[in-house]
Amino acid sequence: MDPKLQKILESYEERAAAEASVLRSLPSEELERRIDEFLIPVGPDTGKFLHTLVKSSRATCVVEIGASYGYSTLWLADAARLTGGKVHSFELSSSKVEYAQEKLRSVGLDGFVQFHVGDVFDHLPSLAGPIDLVLIDCWKVLYEPCFELVHPKLADEGIVVADNMLYPVESRPDAQKYQKLVRSKPDMESVALPMGSGIDVARRRSSTPVRSLA
Ligand SMILES: C[S@@+](CC[C@H](N)C(=O)[O-])C[C@H]1O[C@@H](n2cnc3c(N)ncnc32)[C@H](O)[C@@H]1O
Repeated sequence: MDPKLQKILESYEERAAAEASVLRSLPSEELERRIDEFLIPVGPDTGKFLHTLVKSSRATCVVEIGASYGYSTLWLADAARLTGGKVHSFELSSSKVEYAQEKLRSVGLDGFVQFHVGDVFDHLPSLAGPIDLVLIDCWKVLYEPCFELVHPKLADEGIVVADNMLYPVESRPDAQKYQKLVRSKPDMESVALPMGSGIDVARRRSSTPVRSLA
């Protein structure tokens, strides 16, 4: 990886580590009011895993729901650079997107990301697809409707990764509802992995039969 990109990712990780103790100490009402001050990134393990998934599945149409300040966007954009693909990133906050764009520009990755600023439910319906890989990392109550939004647009063998299946603990009821929904779809296969904040990885089954290994 480009050492400049590595350095930027590390600076996000340092900021996130410093913010973690503040996040834990805030009463829930104050946290809700100040939530946009914090990065709340997927973290280095999930970032690396996403990078590997995009490359190994040769994903070219990559969707990110919830960019925040651009930590996961940087990982996805670097992988999209290697596959010749593009990241469509959906984020509510225009100031967070400006911050992310500046970081992407500083490492020459801005050309691999198209931001859609605003509510994902207003913008994603007009994305044609098929989508090869999706990261769902927005507010947790939205995970189920987000999955319903992307599911019909998934490519054959398209992948959906959802973050925060285990942490924060308060999100677990929403995470469980999300996992139940994904597992109810006959065309999806999925696994939960205890990586970072806990991720769910789901893949649309191939419509062509798997070649016999015999
Ligand atoms: C946990 S943060 C994303 C962290 C980011 N993936 C990373 O690893 O750095 C969640 C983000 O989802 C965004 N978000 C929440 N609801 C949204 C919606 N309906 N449409 C688009 N973005 C949304 C929030 O503004 C917030 O920045």
